[in-house]
Amino acid sequence: MQDDDYLEKLQQIKKQFLCYVPVKEINLSFLDKLDINSQEQVIENTIRLDQILKYPINLEYQKAFLKHLLQYFERQGSVIHDTLYEEYGRLVALPCSNINFKHYATESGKKDIILKENANLISDGTTGLRTWQASLALSEWIISNSSYFNSKVVLELGSGVGLTGLTLSTHTEAKTLYLTDCHSSVLTTLCDNVILNSGHVYKNYNLGEQCLLEDCINNCLVRVFNLPWEDICEDLCQSLGRIDIVIAADVVYDSSIFEPLVNAVDYLFKYCGASEFILSCTERNPDTLTDFLLLLGKNYRIVDVEVPIQRHFLWSSIPPVKIFNARLTST
Ligand SMILES: C[S@@+](CC[C@H](N)C(=O)[O-])C[C@H]1O[C@@H](n2cnc3c(N)ncnc32)[C@H](O)[C@@H]1O
Repeated sequence: MQDDDYLEKLQQIKKQFLCYVPVKEINLSFLDKLDINSQEQVIENTIRLDQILKYPINLEYQKAFLKHLLQYFERQGSVIHDTLYEEYGRLVALPCSNINFKHYATESGKKDIILKENANLISDGTTGLRTWQASLALSEWIISNSSYFNSKVVLELGSGVGLTGLTLSTHTEAKTLYLTDCHSSVLTTLCDNVILNSGHVYKNYNLGEQCLLEDCINNCLVRVFNLPWEDICEDLCQSLGRIDIVIAADVVYDSSIFEPLVNAVDYLFKYCGASEFILSCTERNPDTLTDFLLLLGKNYRIVDVEVPIQRHFLWSSIPPVKIFNARLTST
């Protein structure tokens, strides 16, 4: 008989597997060595999930997960279920692919957010092809404060592969969401991820010089823009129209882009009417973050926002993530 605690732990394994938590951190100790069916259940909830067969996560990770499982049961002296060997054989025979997905399981009743991502920290000369921990923390904050975004027009700077924005469009009642970035591979992946999560076959692609895609997710109009911070000007702001809230995650890491970033925020406040900037940062180097906050703080009042506990998303708390809310000093 499997109790609620067992099923909850099984769900936890699934969640960790879906977003590549290092296999050594995945706790298997609740699995009964005598219950051979529990081995099959783990496989059914991870490697053999329909969504994994359709949008596979990194093959090396799947193999490492299976090895972790096999080693655990071997150490316990358990009889190994045939499925584990069959699955290992199947995975070994699969060709390697550069295209990997991550699946973010949020609330029950909500579809998982599926993102095409790269496992490397930097690939194709950009940091934007994977999800960073500040984005996971900001996504968690968005879910815990979803009503904050009701009917709002939100613009995200440096969206990367799109987790924060897609969380916003799927978990809030925001009216319009601008997802923006400047790197061509990142923008292509971002468009792919919007379409993957909207599930629409119909799409407006390559609409214009700046606007690359318009789609609709959960009644939120999602527009993907090519928006280098250096290019933001009055005309461009006028073409964007009204923006209520600007958000960004993990964009404070290189002091050479501080000025363009702050200028971009200035323009969005001045010409689009934005009234707040919600910024999630990973504090890799406290001096770098302090320098950025000093620059931003010249015209903005910055307050710390409490980082939520990890309920839907999992991220490392070392180095720590900090979330800030900035409003114009004069308001
Ligand atoms: C570390 S990644 C963060 C991506 C995403 N927000 C996350 O947290 O997962 C930084 C992102 O900022 C974008 N970026 C960097 N400089 C930029 C600029 N000058 N204009 C627009 N986007 C920029 C990069 O292309 C990249 O996607």
